[in-house]
Amino acid sequence: MPVTLDITGKTRVFGVISDPIAHVRAPAVYNPVFEARGIDAVLIPVHVTPEDLPAAVAGFKAQRSLYGLCVTVPHKVALMQLCDEVGEQGRLVGAVNAVRFTDDRRMVGENFDGQGFVAGMRAEGFEVTGKSVLQLGAGGAGMAIAYALAASGVSRLVIANRTRAKAEELAANVSAAYPSVPVEAGEPDPSGFDIAVNATSLGLAEGDALPLDPGKLAPKTVLAEIVMIPETTALISAALDRGCRVHYGRHMLDKQIDLMGDFIGATS
Ligand SMILES: NC(=O)c1ccc[n+]([C@@H]2O[C@H](COP(=O)([O-])OP(=O)(O)OC[C@H]3O[C@@H](n4cnc5c(N)ncnc54)[C@H](OP(=O)(O)O)[C@@H]3O)[C@@H](O)[C@H]2O)c1
Repeated sequence: MPVTLDITGKTRVFGVISDPIAHVRAPAVYNPVFEARGIDAVLIPVHVTPEDLPAAVAGFKAQRSLYGLCVTVPHKVALMQLCDEVGEQGRLVGAVNAVRFTDDRRMVGENFDGQGFVAGMRAEGFEVTGKSVLQLGAGGAGMAIAYALAASGVSRLVIANRTRAKAEELAANVSAAYPSVPVEAGEPDPSGFDIAVNATSLGLAEGDALPLDPGKLAPKTVLAEIVMIPETTALISAALDRGCRVHYGRHMLDKQIDLMGDFIGATS
């Protein structure tokens, strides 16, 4: 059921842009927050196909009651290219998941995937600055997390990926962006690391292989997961059995929601 809203001429409008649109969760996430906090705003679904994106952006810029958008598949890369300004993480990753419109109607974008992961870790008491990190995975989420970890000043980052060439390319790019952080491609061996993070999609499906050998996990290593469903993946269970502290995938999304809401101006 839609949230009851008192929409007036002063109500600020936010959106989530996607194609298809029916699955988007942002309205169900943000509208109750507006209501609970007494914020005069509404977040609506905005269904735009890739072909119509340039025309839609021109329309967004002309619509002064529209303050910002959450961005989902398939628009993350194309919207970044249409932005007037892009934040550091969005530029590095090459995609944005939030845009806001300034008073003079410039479109400013940023990517909060990796920042959400780091903020989620910190919120749960796991500092990443100064820590050695083994990252498994070099896909879309892995790319954002690697840049954000380097931006946060990890002491060392090793990236392991099934397709080794992708890990090598990502390590080289992260290293070029953050030369003071040692970054390299390597093996999925967590021995000696402070933190091991699963940024692959392994764990989503029952019977998936584990992304690392849990027999090599020492109790001092924090095992972080980004897969959200199931909440307790086989890797998390194995890490708990080894006596490790663990970090769940939902924290990354929770913090992204906060960061994106702040960025587009919806939650303040
Ligand atoms: N918690 C959150 O907020 C959040 C946010 C974004 C994504 N996620 C989750 O993160 C996961 C990855 O998303 P993504 O967007 O990065 O996906 P993606 O771009 O498709 O990348 C998938 C990654 O998993 C690896 N992989 C897939 N199947 C594998 C297998 N059988 N064996 C070994 N490695 C395998 C891929 O390796 P190759 O490069 O070799 O193919 C790649 O590194 C998904 O489960 C997604 O739901 C969570």
